[in-house]
Amino acid sequence: MENNCVLRAIYSRRSVREFSEGDIGDDTLREIIKAGSYAPSGLNNQPWRFVIIRDTGLKNDISTLTHYSKIVVGARVLIAVMLDLSAVYNREKDIQAIGACTQNMLLAIHSLGLGAVWLGEILKKKVEFNGLLELEDRYELMAVIAMGRKPDKELSSGRKSIDELIIKEEA
Ligand SMILES: Cc1cc2nc3c(=O)[nH]c(=O)nc-3n(C[C@H](O)[C@H](O)[C@H](O)COP(=O)(O)O)c2cc1C
Repeated sequence: MENNCVLRAIYSRRSVREFSEGDIGDDTLREIIKAGSYAPSGLNNQPWRFVIIRDTGLKNDISTLTHYSKIVVGARVLIAVMLDLSAVYNREKDIQAIGACTQNMLLAIHSLGLGAVWLGEILKKKVEFNGLLELEDRYELMAVIAMGRKPDKELSSGRKSIDELIIKEEA
């Protein structure tokens, strides 16, 4: 298992909430978005759209919309993951696809040696977010990925045991 690079990435990724100095290049960012776009989606409708935010003033404005303002201000780049309501065919399945897309990006960021956290609490201010970024109503905020270079720091988060998770196993 340890030789399998996909599993290694899955098991070693952790949310990174503090970032060190250093820019993220455009090519890197495009690779991350590309990884997101390779997620599965129902009918392959690819309902995800992205907003990339590097501007410090805008990050400061966005930080007022969330309890996690320090993470937003400290991130080098924010990637807002939006659902394109004009592409929706089944809201439940489309939101699941957006989740797969977001996780793909987190794993890509991790595998590129960078760090990120998925921010969901900010969704309570999704209308205000669209207002700040002057986005059309057809785009609905689903997640913000705050990312940057990760400091040299051990991170951990626990997991339930597999036995707790399997509710039934038929022979
Ligand atoms: C839908 C969703 C919303 C989340 N929202 C936040 C958030 O608003 N702020 C935050 O610091 N972390 C947030 N997280 C990150 C989780 O806290 C984190 O993934 C979890 O504690 C497990 O830790 P790990 O990612 O290091 O394994 C969110 C994760 C998900 C999947």
